[in-house]
Amino acid sequence: MKTRIIGTGSCLPKTVVTNDDLSKIMDTSDEWISSRTGIKERHLAVEETTASMSIEAAKRAMENANVQAQEIDLIIVGTVSADFVTPSCACEVQAAIGADSAVAFDINAACSGFMFALNIADAYIRAGVYRTALILGAETLSKIIDWEDRSTCVLFGDGAGAAVVRADETCGLLAFDQGSDGKKGEVLACPGRTNNNPLVKTDRTLRYVHMDGQEVYKFAVTTVPASLQKTIEKAGLTAADIDYFALHQANIRIIQSVSKRLHVSDDKFPISLDHCGNISAASVPILLDEMNRKGLLKPGMKVALSGFGGGLTWASAVVEW
Ligand code: COA
Repeated sequence: MKTRIIGTGSCLPKTVVTNDDLSKIMDTSDEWISSRTGIKERHLAVEETTASMSIEAAKRAMENANVQAQEIDLIIVGTVSADFVTPSCACEVQAAIGADSAVAFDINAACSGFMFALNIADAYIRAGVYRTALILGAETLSKIIDWEDRSTCVLFGDGAGAAVVRADETCGLLAFDQGSDGKKGEVLACPGRTNNNPLVKTDRTLRYVHMDGQEVYKFAVTTVPASLQKTIEKAGLTAADIDYFALHQANIRIIQSVSKRLHVSDDKFPISLDHCGNISAASVPILLDEMNRKGLLKPGMKVALSGFGGGLTWASAVVEW
């Protein structure tokens, strides 16, 4: 039994903020941002919330998969920016779509969140516990970014992506690799929930994402190609057999470095970071949905997916479409 992706959906906030827009409110430029990252613009939530974008992405994925809410057994949202500590974003999605018999919960694996959700769903499906799952990556990163720190705020955006996965006899997930390195957690961190009882003085700046960009870059360009290589070999394939690589959209230079290390043309690495920026857990499913809706994905194609980021965490998969 395999876990097959049978539908995708995504949702981006209405408001687009270009690099030039940012250069009017902080000391930065389109030239600095685009040349170092490939990012041109990002969508930022104004009216939207993590849950509202998740619900819209979920509905689009269900429509694309032709699946009704009553058929969904499991809902997992990968997120570091849910609207509430509780209820989870997944429970909000469950209520909004009317998936009354589903079990719903969030997971935090930062930018690998959607990939970890896929692996959890796959484990349940292969064990015969559940048949159909709705998995999402959803973020409103703009609420946990320090807008006075130009070295991080220009990199991130908001949005949600979803996929419906189902048990299938013929094709689906062929291989998986995932890992974590908690010892390097501080290179990309957002402390967030500091104590604020009357006995403790809280540093408010601890609410925001901070990052050692160069350390994260080094981690990504070594770990991601190694993880992809391992997963491709587990699937009994070589990098040349992969039709597309759908990578977490952090930085164009990371993606180009992975394509070089795998000796694969960068035409096989579709991009959404130019118009989305880095949306953490939502990056991979949004990219996958864009590829799906452009008609790039044909039955039988082999697609390699990879997410990597805070934790540190990483996860790769090879799927047969
Ligand atoms: N606009 C203009 N200048 C900026 C800037 C901005 N938005 N942000 C930083 N700078 C300045 C810095 O202050 C520094 O100036 P200085 O030399 O006078 O001190 C200079 O640009 C270079 O900064 P540096 O941090 O060395 O740049 P870099 O070449 O390492 O690029 C990143 C920074 C963040 C683009 C790069 O490290 C990176 O992409 N890392 C990976 C990050 C990532 O992908 N994270 C998410 C993973 S999930």
